[in-house]
Amino acid sequence: MTIATKMAAAMQSSSWIRRMFEEGAELKARLGADNVFDFTLGNPDLEPPDAFKAALLDAVRDDRQGLHSYMPNAGLPATRQAVAKHLTGVHQLAFVPEDVIMTCGAAGALNVILKTLLDPWDEVIILAPFFPEYLFYIENHGGVARVVETDDRFLPVLHEVEEALNDHTVAVIINSPNNPTGQIYNDAMLRSLGKVLAKGSARFGRPIYLINDEPYRRLVYDGLSLPSVFQAYPDSLVATSFSKDLSLPGERIGYIGLNPAARDRTEFLAGMILANRILGYINAPALMQRVVAKLTDISVDIAPYARRRELFSRILEEIGYDFIKPQGTFYLFPRSPLIDDVAFIQELKKENILAVPGRGFARPGYFRLAFCVPESIIAGAAPGLARAFARAADSKPQP
Ligand SMILES: Cc1ncc(COP(=O)(O)O)c(C=O)c1O
Repeated sequence: MTIATKMAAAMQSSSWIRRMFEEGAELKARLGADNVFDFTLGNPDLEPPDAFKAALLDAVRDDRQGLHSYMPNAGLPATRQAVAKHLTGVHQLAFVPEDVIMTCGAAGALNVILKTLLDPWDEVIILAPFFPEYLFYIENHGGVARVVETDDRFLPVLHEVEEALNDHTVAVIINSPNNPTGQIYNDAMLRSLGKVLAKGSARFGRPIYLINDEPYRRLVYDGLSLPSVFQAYPDSLVATSFSKDLSLPGERIGYIGLNPAARDRTEFLAGMILANRILGYINAPALMQRVVAKLTDISVDIAPYARRRELFSRILEEIGYDFIKPQGTFYLFPRSPLIDDVAFIQELKKENILAVPGRGFARPGYFRLAFCVPESIIAGAAPGLARAFARAADSKPQP
């Protein structure tokens, strides 16, 4: 075989999200897109705000020399400055441009952080259910993922995190607002987690960094706002992007923010800047950096997502599905009416409804529905969701 054994194994285990999405594409080709209810992919369907298009046109018309050249690997000074100003406002901590590294999306940000931190066999704690790409990102850099379960509300169980810490632990990745559960960690939770990590860092004699992967920061409902990981714990970072809040996932633009109070800050930043280069990203896209510098405080209007969340929640509740209404993101993560979530996904498929089984996120017994689709698709899926639920109920042994 030409490709590496490790790569072949990765391809085998590669995500359920993609697998279901590909099955959906096949179904759509056969039945017509209007007859398939596809809730597999977290690909924002709202167009970027008008301000994005205006800033993009300005950037394109700007014909000063050198705007498309190589640049410092950490990004354009003016963009880092704009992001630092934004972070200062949001987190009420003084950020300087040096605390910011522009990256190719949140995925690029996570890979840069992990490349910089991980020696072979170092461990990164992730909390199940989790975004499945974390496993690949950690493995990319020779690390080992240590999975810790969350409780039945998908929140961290602090003593279990504490028990998982050891002298190989270099970081904990959290993801709030969370994909796939839609849950948010409140300030008390972040601070308690911070205390656990501070204690662990002291015990094992090395900093254990807390990374919040937060591309969904602005997608929160009911007037909630997201607490600051930077306020909760000094050795912290944010990995984020403009993919979801500006609907720009294809443009690959995001950033890392490092807590100004983090230990070994200067060396850590220098390491991440080198990682950005030698991972082959070199720097984040120049044109997009110039555009987002003007848009750090803007996001898509989340009202359509809020309406879909209401509609979907009402439909699921009326049928009898067991779920927690998401506080953020555009995902619902109901309990599967069949113990075997993959079997239930097959029942949904019979109704031309596509969803991702919970085991794709390391939490079997659930399934994920992405509601970045028009309300008509959500409403149209209601009868099929009801029929699949009824069949699951019928197939259960009677008491
Ligand atoms: C939890 C989570 N982290 C990271 C990413 C990757 O984001 P980006 O496209 O900005 O790299 C995603 C994308 O869906 C995500 O859901």
